Amino acid sequence: MGWSKERLEEVARTRLGGAKLIVVANREPYIHRYATDGAVEWIRPAGGLTTALDPVMQACGGVWVAHGSGDADRAVTDPSGRVGVPPDDPNYVLRRVWLTPEQEDGYYYGAANGMLWPLCHQVFARPAFDPGHWDAYRRVNQTFADAVLEEAQGGPALVFIQDYHFALLPRLLKAARPDLVTAQFWHIPWPGPEKFLVCPWARDILDGLLGNDLMGFHTQHDCNHFLECVDRALECRIDRERFAVQRGGQATTVKPFPISVDPALADEYLGDDWAARAGAIRRRHGLGDRPLIVGVDRVDYTKGIPERLRAVDRVLHRHPELRGGFHFVQVGAPSRSSIPAYRDLTAEVNGLAARINREHGTAGWQPVVFLNAHHGPEDIFALYRDAAGCVVSSLHDGMNLVAKEFVTARADDRGVLVLSTFTGAARELTDAVLANPFDVDELADGLHAALTMPAAEQERRMRRMRAQVDDHNIYRWAGMLLSEVGKRVPDSPPPPAEKSEGEREPNKNLRAYGDEEAIARETYVTAMQLAGA
Ligand code: G6P
Repeated sequence: MGWSKERLEEVARTRLGGAKLIVVANREPYIHRYATDGAVEWIRPAGGLTTALDPVMQACGGVWVAHGSGDADRAVTDPSGRVGVPPDDPNYVLRRVWLTPEQEDGYYYGAANGMLWPLCHQVFARPAFDPGHWDAYRRVNQTFADAVLEEAQGGPALVFIQDYHFALLPRLLKAARPDLVTAQFWHIPWPGPEKFLVCPWARDILDGLLGNDLMGFHTQHDCNHFLECVDRALECRIDRERFAVQRGGQATTVKPFPISVDPALADEYLGDDWAARAGAIRRRHGLGDRPLIVGVDRVDYTKGIPERLRAVDRVLHRHPELRGGFHFVQVGAPSRSSIPAYRDLTAEVNGLAARINREHGTAGWQPVVFLNAHHGPEDIFALYRDAAGCVVSSLHDGMNLVAKEFVTARADDRGVLVLSTFTGAARELTDAVLANPFDVDELADGLHAALTMPAAEQERRMRRMRAQVDDHNIYRWAGMLLSEVGKRVPDSPPPPAEKSEGEREPNKNLRAYGDEEAIARETYVTAMQLAGA
């Protein structure tokens, strides 16, 4: 049986019993801001995490605790920072946590994105180890712990923590409420011990994370790196057969769960008028009816944006027949721009785009179009659908959901995905044109393939990639995680299911044992796939 929203709903209801689901992620799924006319509007932020988790919350219900980062966020919340979302049809609660600019500076820009982000990505960017940032990080983790404890209201809860912003949170929660069940998913890669253990607070981070009942990563490789770090840095017992760590009377299971997207969202975002939206973008930027290669990223130095621009330059030198024959459109959402490395990158991309356009462009044709602004998913999906190809050239990426989104947008079975071998997605989307982004010639060959691949070959590859994402979707990811950690949720009667008239009363104390065997089988198959068997 495939995974759907309905199946996840059922698994959540039976696995959670009466326990409340509390998700913690730094980034909120909906940001309220003031439009130029002073009205309050809301947007969805850029970045794969929120896009992936929002449908899960819509299926499971509960509370999402996040930093309230929009300038109009306070205008729509109740006194304790709560607001129902999605804003147009609320079905779960967003609890906003307020941070001062100094806290944001030390915790978010400093420790999370100036230290842990470069520490975990193999991109040769030097992490900054600043005791002041670390202090802010510790304090903000405590602030989030307080908010979670308030939301749990002393009752049973499963706290599902996201990412590298909250390495200390699980331990803080367990110290206050040992009965809470906590799982954490690390959305970025985990480095090997040689790299990770240079961090002055490596032991605190590892100990904090081992407060979790379950620690999830995208790949077995990341799990192995994590276990090696734990093994070298801490007093503990590692059960390598069961992938579990025993420390101070607590067991943490460490397993891979490759994240994905909701394939149904593509139809929703595309709607009936995607072609009109794509047409408007084409007119606005003078793209005519030429084939497009698109890139969609936050402007982040892990994404390999300069590398793909150099590959565009190389392709134009090596294949002069392609001059005037296509556009490369880079949607680059501004990101973390208080950090110098991010500002420098934006300047570099602007400079490279201008240089390439000067060198190769003509009066009526500019090869590179850099759209350095936030774009809503409706426009992004219209571009995916309209493009000849999409390029994802990350230098290192835990998964990369742009690759999977592009595939879900192509119900026409056309379009070529050029994908970096250094993404988690490359392990699943093996029918993409795979390329090493550090190798400009290989990436240029990938772009050339995207512009020249025969339709039959595109269809053959796209069909297989679509089948993979359809099957390994976000509901499966969440369902497998919930099934694993749900074993630790104390038995409590599930809340009554909402049922339509005449429907049979479910047995409230029955867990979804029918699913048990199927899930165990899938876990085994995933483990074998990830082990390369
Ligand atoms: C990555 C991280 C997420 C983050 C996203 C966007 O995907 O794993 O935790 O939300 O980037 O970055 P931002 O800093 O804007 O939240």
